[in-house]
Amino acid sequence: MESCSRVKISKIKEMEPGEKILVKGWVRTKRGNKNVTFVALNDGSSVSNVQIVLDGSKFSEESLKGVTTGASIGVFGVLVESPGKGQALEISADKLELYGTADPNSYPLQKKGHTMEFLREIGHLRPRTNTFGCIFRIRHAMAYAIHKFFNDKGFYYLHTPIITASDAEGAGAMFQVTTLDLSNPPRKECGAIDYSKDFFGKSANLTVSGQLEGELGALALGEIYTFGPTFRAENSNTPRHLSEFWMIEPEMAFYEIKENMDLAEEFIKYLVKYALDNCIEDLRFLNDMFDKELIQRLEDVVNTQFVRLSYTEGIEILINSGQKFEFPVSWGTDLQSEHERYLVEKHFKKPVILTDYPKEIKAFYMKQNSDGKTVRAMDVLFPKIGEIIGGSQREESLEKLQSRVEELHMDPSSLWWYLETRKYGTVPHAGFGLGFERLLLFVTGMTNIRDVIPFPRSPKNAEF
Ligand code: 4AD
Ligand code: MG
Repeated sequence: MESCSRVKISKIKEMEPGEKILVKGWVRTKRGNKNVTFVALNDGSSVSNVQIVLDGSKFSEESLKGVTTGASIGVFGVLVESPGKGQALEISADKLELYGTADPNSYPLQKKGHTMEFLREIGHLRPRTNTFGCIFRIRHAMAYAIHKFFNDKGFYYLHTPIITASDAEGAGAMFQVTTLDLSNPPRKECGAIDYSKDFFGKSANLTVSGQLEGELGALALGEIYTFGPTFRAENSNTPRHLSEFWMIEPEMAFYEIKENMDLAEEFIKYLVKYALDNCIEDLRFLNDMFDKELIQRLEDVVNTQFVRLSYTEGIEILINSGQKFEFPVSWGTDLQSEHERYLVEKHFKKPVILTDYPKEIKAFYMKQNSDGKTVRAMDVLFPKIGEIIGGSQREESLEKLQSRVEELHMDPSSLWWYLETRKYGTVPHAGFGLGFERLLLFVTGMTNIRDVIPFPRSPKNAEF
């Protein structure tokens, strides 16, 4: 079996008939008769299977009994031109090794199609389907492309903490981290829990965003990005929210909102183009099986200029649209996904960057405009998704930042280190956060965010 080294099935197309070959993988299907058996084998390297031909003179029916859908095997043989359609080359087998059987009566991934809901219940096995193979290969390629994009531009990858004592977004939707005995926590005289006795000597939580620490990096290294898991304890059971999701957060010294928007647009187009250039086989599969307009939509985004307009102008368009929305719109309200998608899909028919939102619906750190009402926020809105990026220019004035912290009744003592960057060598700066799974929803055409992360975390769900 080990007389030559294992070849990934994706590499077979680079080989010639007559070459000896060893492949290992999982059986997708088996068919045939006494004289000959055909096995479709997949090893995760590509959506395409390789066909294995097992001649009845070399392999008895008895020796192939364990080779059923889901079983794992190794095959040594010779590459031959395939007379059948669907593949140029197939493997004429000389030796077979059965690693593990998969009982046909219980193995859930038999040949028939399965619903996405059912596949979510078998998260431990769904990576073995064509669909999830495609999605996770694309996910890998996008992660790689993100690092390549920033590295080529001279940005530094900064690791921001996962456990933190601050609430970066000021939204309060945090998972607490504690080693206190929950049935009998230490208490202060007033009855409140005494967090000075907790592991970190204060109350701590999982990060909702690496931005605040990212700013510290940008105000020293110039241009940085983070790329890590973030956690939100909001009870949002929607196809676009996860409790644990990955976010990419670039932060740049000396950028104002215009350069921030330019970077966001360039970044997304780069990633989508990277997928088209490097994942086309997987994209074609998803296009054919799920969404016949997927590839067209990806190409459109690469070739179109995003619309840029203010929140105020966006609200006017929505009010004048005559459209009945589930949530009514007026100046000052936060935009719902239905509003965002109306602007993108119906009105402009292209991605939109919306700027200058009312300060009341945005985080404390955003740069205040001179009108006293709005802040220099920028959200990138995408077809099928709604908000894919949220960002802003940051308030660099110590005085204005402090007064906003007071207005919002935030505790300045927990933010002393953040405020000090405005005291010492403050500069205009800006950044944004791209939700990695929202990007993947767009690139794969999937409609539920739980299908673009291997092991989704959402309210009442932490299986696997
Ligand atoms: O708009 P958000 O909350 O912005 C921030 O966290 C800023 N600190 C980013 C920054 O300026 N550095 O989140 C940014 C993006 C959203 O646009 C969305 O794509 C994604 O993160 N996101 C989520 N994705 C999945 N599930 C959730 N619950 C998400 N919440 C936000
Ligand atoms: Mg946002």
